[in-house]
Amino acid sequence: MMGTSSKNKKKSPSRSVRKPQYLSAQRTKPDTRLLDAEKFLLPTYKRQPVVMTHGRGAYIYDTTGKKYLDFLGGIAVNVLGHVHPRIVRVIRREAARAIHFSNLYHNAYQGPLARKLAGWSGMDRVFFSNSGTEAIDGAMKLARLFGRKADEAPGTTAKKHRFLALENSFHGRTFGAISVTSTEKYRLPFAPVVPGAEFVRFNDVADLEAKFDDTVCGILLETIQGEGGIYPISEAFWNRARSLASQHGALLIADEIQCGLGRTGRFFGYQKFSSNPDIVLIAKPLAAGLPLGAILTTEDVASRVSPGMHGTTFGGGPLACAVALEFLNIVEDEELLENIRLRGAELREGLTKLAAKFGFIREIRGEGLMIGVELSSEGAPFVSEAMRRGLLINCTHDFTLRLLPPFVITRAQVREFLGLFELVLAITPKQASASDSGKSANPESVALAAVR
Ligand SMILES: Cc1ncc(COP(=O)(O)O)c(C=O)c1O
Repeated sequence: MMGTSSKNKKKSPSRSVRKPQYLSAQRTKPDTRLLDAEKFLLPTYKRQPVVMTHGRGAYIYDTTGKKYLDFLGGIAVNVLGHVHPRIVRVIRREAARAIHFSNLYHNAYQGPLARKLAGWSGMDRVFFSNSGTEAIDGAMKLARLFGRKADEAPGTTAKKHRFLALENSFHGRTFGAISVTSTEKYRLPFAPVVPGAEFVRFNDVADLEAKFDDTVCGILLETIQGEGGIYPISEAFWNRARSLASQHGALLIADEIQCGLGRTGRFFGYQKFSSNPDIVLIAKPLAAGLPLGAILTTEDVASRVSPGMHGTTFGGGPLACAVALEFLNIVEDEELLENIRLRGAELREGLTKLAAKFGFIREIRGEGLMIGVELSSEGAPFVSEAMRRGLLINCTHDFTLRLLPPFVITRAQVREFLGLFELVLAITPKQASASDSGKSANPESVALAAVR
């Protein structure tokens, strides 16, 4: 079995990274940064009590100098690891030129980046946002716009105005996005949300057919549900959603914010199916950690848009777009899709062996470097133990450990992960089981008619 963080200390060459001077905090004194955070921040997150300071490749470091193998990647963002030299170079170059102009003018990178994304996705046109949730809200606006008939007066509710989304979905935190996010704790405290959204049972074709009619303007699907616990959409469900959307003049909207841009070993998750969506949404890794999202769509949808209908101050700025263009080039130049497929296969193989050893591993799901390990025991204690051992993972939907390592992960780092993970599985005390707690980790257990 591979070692703990103290073992890493001796062996790893990246240990030689010098700690910034301001971090020579005395551990005996309370950390004022944590105290400030506790006192002045809105309590929106349940954070681990550590202050992260810097990263190198697939590792990050905290104020005490402790090193972590990062198998979460800032939740699917840091796909090139940290301080990739080409990204650092572009940030330095652009920061010395200009950080922001305005969307009233062109910059040197939006057009070329849009061209590249169109090539990757099979879409025609691009709008740049700052985040995933803004891309979702923009796509919902496009679907309403597309559904409105010329003889329907602006300001009235168009006949075609409803949205379909899936049970167990997560699409973000703005009002549009929470309206199509099924998890009640994210939505109900803020009611009334955007009206007209309805949830279809996961991968349940019969339920989809029952809920789809001419009043639907858009259906939103995560090709692989991320926050919901790494559940891939079935081909049968995708195909039926595509045909129903076309039949009823609604838009099929693929939320690829977590699973897109290479994560599955393809440019986009939906590229394993034989048909394209009408809209593709991306964000997270797009600008290698800088905030940037995008709506990619067809010429037909784009033709309904005119100046002033949608916009943003920051979205598509020169710095973020230059970095995003560099990121896409790095994926191609370093043949990262191939690395994702190979490392993903090694990871699954290792995890399958661990599942044979630890009976409380119920299922391993996912594709490429997007993997869920479903346990029959609460996942949170495993996350805490992993952190103590110098490994970052997280838990989603209480029972699923989520692994989102960077695309640049090496074979040796996969082995290092498997060693640490085995130790964590072995020593973490097991807590309430999924069935004991009455919670269902599996959306298909409430969708018995599921087609996979
Ligand atoms: C599938 C999916 N859609 C949308 C979002 C929202 O993206 P953002 O946090 O950038 O607003 C997320 C974020 O986790 C996501 O995973």
